[in-house]
Amino acid sequence: MRRPIVAGNWKMHGTRSENARLIEEVISRYPADPAAECIVCPPYVYLQEVGRLLRDSAVLLGAQDVCAEAQGAFTGEVSATMLKDVGCQHVIVGHSERRLLNRESDQLVARKFAAAQGKALVPILCVGEQLTDRESGRTREVVARQLDAILELCGVRSLASAVIAYEPVWAIGTGRNAAPEQAQEVHAFIRARIAARDATIAAVAPILYGGSVKASNAAELLAMPDVDGGLIGGASLKADEFLAILAAAGSR
Ligand code: 13P
Repeated sequence: MRRPIVAGNWKMHGTRSENARLIEEVISRYPADPAAECIVCPPYVYLQEVGRLLRDSAVLLGAQDVCAEAQGAFTGEVSATMLKDVGCQHVIVGHSERRLLNRESDQLVARKFAAAQGKALVPILCVGEQLTDRESGRTREVVARQLDAILELCGVRSLASAVIAYEPVWAIGTGRNAAPEQAQEVHAFIRARIAARDATIAAVAPILYGGSVKASNAAELLAMPDVDGGLIGGASLKADEFLAILAAAGSR
């Protein structure tokens, strides 16, 4: 069956000393043979150092974004090769903050997904609707469009080595998480859409929920049959909260 995954997206937070304190606490209390897989995604500039701190632990390292291009004159960008070189196993692509603030299109996100897989990084593909989409009954349409861009460029088999994260934009950083049934409904929709192309891959594809997950609501979200873990923002910066979410995922 699908092993639960909990990934911490630190976004643009942290300092070297804060990171060291957080990682030290997480790895000292995280089992060597954990029931849930744990990934942390620090800002680019801290990847190498956090990777060093994680050495000898079971916690994996991920980045928050990647350039779609392989190399060249792209000032400020970071390639999949570089992420691999500093020890990343995962990379988030298509986070709504990048889709919205940096105007990343579905096609660009798909190219980033492909670039990551081309260097054996596991992409964590974020999809999710905005509040206006939900209110106008367009949630499925938006999520389908975001998912289909990947299926068209990379094919359904690409999802055998990827993670999907459903993150409704209205639930991110608002303290207002999706109700477990709302999350389940979209997760089941995503799985069914994959199954229409390949049922075997749909059955193993991990689909995480993200958006105001915290220790107090993790268990009920993770109890949903198609919710395979969480992509955690704010609560991933607090060791107690993050560890409690990991524990909830592990006892799912
Ligand atoms: P919050 O957990 O802070 O709502 O953020 C979710 C998120 O965007 C993770 O990628």
